Amino acid sequence: MLFLSRSALLAIFGVISAAAWKDHCEKFTASIPNVVLEATYYAPGALVNLTSPSSAVLTTKLPAFCRLALTITTNTTSGNQALTEVWMPDDWNARLLGFGNGGLSGGVVYSALADDGISQGYSSFSTNTGHQSDIGHAGWAWNDTNAQEDFGYRAFQLSYQAAKSLTEEYYGKSILKKYYLGCSTAGRMGLVEAQRFPEDFDGIVVGSPANPVARLASWNIHMGRQVLPVNGSRWIPEELWPVIHAEVLKQCDGLDGVMDGVLDDPRQCLFRPEAIACGPSSNSSTCLTLDQIAALRGLYTDWYSQNGTFLFSGWDVGGELAYGGPYSYASGPDIPIGPEYYKYFIFGNPDWEYNTLTESDIFRAIETNPGQVDNNGYNYTSYFTRGGKLLHYVGLADQVISAGNSYVTYNSISAFTTAYTNLDVNDHYRFYPVPGMYHCNGGVGANAFGGDGQRTSGMPPLIRDSKHDILTAMVDWVENGNAPTDLIAAKYTNNNSTQGIEFTRKLCPYPQKGVYQGGDQNSSNSFVCQ
Ligand SMILES: *[C@@H]1O[C@H](CO)[C@@H](O)[C@H](O)[C@H]1NC(C)=O
Ligand SMILES: *[C@@H]1O[C@H](CO)[C@@H](O)[C@H](O)[C@H]1NC(C)=O
Ligand SMILES: *[C@@H]1O[C@H](CO)[C@@H](O)[C@H](O)[C@H]1NC(C)=O
Ligand SMILES: *[C@@H]1O[C@H](CO)[C@@H](O)[C@H](O)[C@H]1NC(C)=O
Ligand SMILES: *[C@@H]1O[C@H](CO)[C@@H](O)[C@H](O)[C@H]1NC(C)=O
Ligand SMILES: *[C@@H]1O[C@H](CO)[C@@H](O)[C@H](O)[C@H]1NC(C)=O
Ligand SMILES: *[C@@H]1O[C@H](CO)[C@@H](O)[C@H](O)[C@H]1NC(C)=O
Ligand SMILES: *[C@@H]1O[C@H](CO)[C@@H](O)[C@H](O)[C@H]1NC(C)=O
Ligand SMILES: *[C@@H]1O[C@H](CO)[C@@H](O)[C@H](O)[C@H]1NC(C)=O
Ligand SMILES: *[C@@H]1O[C@H](CO)[C@@H](O)[C@H](O)[C@H]1NC(C)=O
Repeated sequence: MLFLSRSALLAIFGVISAAAWKDHCEKFTASIPNVVLEATYYAPGALVNLTSPSSAVLTTKLPAFCRLALTITTNTTSGNQALTEVWMPDDWNARLLGFGNGGLSGGVVYSALADDGISQGYSSFSTNTGHQSDIGHAGWAWNDTNAQEDFGYRAFQLSYQAAKSLTEEYYGKSILKKYYLGCSTAGRMGLVEAQRFPEDFDGIVVGSPANPVARLASWNIHMGRQVLPVNGSRWIPEELWPVIHAEVLKQCDGLDGVMDGVLDDPRQCLFRPEAIACGPSSNSSTCLTLDQIAALRGLYTDWYSQNGTFLFSGWDVGGELAYGGPYSYASGPDIPIGPEYYKYFIFGNPDWEYNTLTESDIFRAIETNPGQVDNNGYNYTSYFTRGGKLLHYVGLADQVISAGNSYVTYNSISAFTTAYTNLDVNDHYRFYPVPGMYHCNGGVGANAFGGDGQRTSGMPPLIRDSKHDILTAMVDWVENGNAPTDLIAAKYTNNNSTQGIEFTRKLCPYPQKGVYQGGDQNSSNSFVCQ
């Protein structure tokens, strides 16, 4: 080895100076098969200006770190490659933290490495999952089963292996514990790791996992079909969504004991859209036609195939302000992820039309599972048995992947574990529904608790401790045996922490809910989990 170990550096310098770290970083080499690496040192407060297809960082606020840019050949025969980065802070907390991606991925998530990773002392890694592209396109998967496997699990797992060994080599000591934080596709990647590679991580925190993909992609098209074509009789124009939301609140806001515009348990609400049905002299901007009511019922209803197989959960009520927005699956013909999946993973045909999707196509996708992107069933026994912990959250107003999908995941893993093992699932896995939160962050509820992407979106946790920050809660569970109970989330004015706190709330481990006890409605102290 050409470089000095951390302990050798310590012996020479006592405290390692920034200059010594710089030297150590710039001289760092390591030989891992099929990995080429390039090391760059960033002094404290140095300009970090990096862009990938899915993330950009432009800041002078980061602590000092050594950046390793890796090119990993994921299959030496085909030559497929993944771009992966490992960022290692001078002031290391002895832990490794992995991050996943969004949508159809396609770039290193620099913002996560910066905001959630090295800013908190973790040696951190992220990969492009084997291809460069934005989150909405899958042309890279066309006829390329290796690219599909890389996206499914392989690029991330090889990145994990490289990050682990490079981190230990760089610091000259073994990693204390290994963690994962990810929402959406990154949530799927966390579940894949727990199930297929149970030894990799000690603690995995997932939000709204985009799993199983075959069903999710199909549901994406199914949801679009409820309302399309744009301006057709079932179309719900953007101006109607706030009207529908106001009616939902009118019928159900008080059911949880607090009139605050947030439904703590949307499933208690038996919403009747007929209450705003159009009459003979109604203004069509403020009422629903019978076709629109039928469309709305389709969006809110769990989806089954004609022979009775459950396919995916419908939306819960309460997220209407997001459902009508630009990221809604029902916001027009531009519903890319489902069609892209079918075009490039299933049919290898860019001209495939989403409105030709049949049930046999759906079962074909579920059964073939190209790239093994879907997790296989609900068996997490190996991960739980080896002591791995799993935390899971979902916004109840999630408009991209229904919150119901997370309930199905939790209930199914829980039922499997209870049926086939002697484990108490509660010792290994806890699930936090987050009232009023949209997909992974934002929304009208208390939505800031350290979840993936929340710091980057201007919504950091109130305090970085195990009550307010879900990753710190995970660390406390893994390292000190303190299982998380209630967590405290914040709602900032305009979802922006620089503009003040609107209110705080307790997030409760399902099946508990936060119940109002009287007193200040803006304070989490007025709620208990029960
Ligand atoms: C950041 O990098 C981009 C692309 O290389 C460049 O155009 C831009 O000027 C840089 N910004 C700063 C502040 O250096
Ligand atoms: C690597 O790629 C080759 C060529 O496409 C393929 O035949 C082989 O199955 C791949 N190997 C793995 C382990 O995926
Ligand atoms: C994919 O395979 C099909 C069938 O072999 C072929 O017609 C098509 O050109 C290929 N597309 C790409 C992008 O390789
Ligand atoms: C739908 O109707 C709106 C309002 O009349 C119009 O601005 C828009 O162009 C229409 N869109 C399509 C795709 O027809
Ligand atoms: C219908 O309602 C919309 C929204 O409240 C309003 O802007 C519009 O002027 C109304 N149209 C008529 C004909 O009253
Ligand atoms: C419905 O049909 C699909 C495809 O043949 C099959 O996989 C599934 O098990 C069937 N569901 C039921 C409830 O029979
Ligand atoms: C769950 O998975 C483990 C590891 O693959 C396997 O040993 C076990 O038999 C599985 N349990 C069931 C009930 O299938
Ligand atoms: C931010 O919060 C407001 C409510 O205060 C909500 O209406 C809005 O949709 C949120 N924005 C995002 C991007 O989540
Ligand atoms: C938050 O608000 C501040 C002004 O108070 C503004 O400068 C900043 O851009 C906002 N952040 C985000 C993420 O919108
Ligand atoms: C709660 O917060 C809201 C929004 O910031 C504010 O309008 C209201 O006065 C607060 N209520 C109390 C009791 O402080």
